[in-house]
Amino acid sequence: MAQPTEYIVIKALENGVNVIGLTRGSDTRFHHSEKLDRNEVMIAQFTEHTSAVKVRGKAVIQTSHGEMNTGE
Ligand code: TRP
Repeated sequence: MAQPTEYIVIKALENGVNVIGLTRGSDTRFHHSEKLDRNEVMIAQFTEHTSAVKVRGKAVIQTSHGEMNTGE
C-alpha cells in the first residue's frame, strides 16, 4: 500500500469515546482501541494495518468526505 496522506480527525463530545482500529486483509478484527475524554482529539490515518475505524460514543468526525456527528 502507498504511503497514506490523508488524516481523519475525531473529537470526543463526551468522556469515554472509543476509537477502534480494524485490521486490513481477510481477517477483520479490532487491533487497537483508544479512549478519548471530552474535547480530546485524535488525528489518524488509514494505514497498511488499519482499513476501517469504528467510533463509539458522541463525537465529531472530519474526513475528506465531510464532517459528521455520531450519537444524534
Ligand atoms: N499502528 C496502527 C497503524 O499503523 C495505528 C493506527 C493508525 C490506528 N490508524 C489508526 C489505530 C486508527 C486506531 C485507529 O495502523
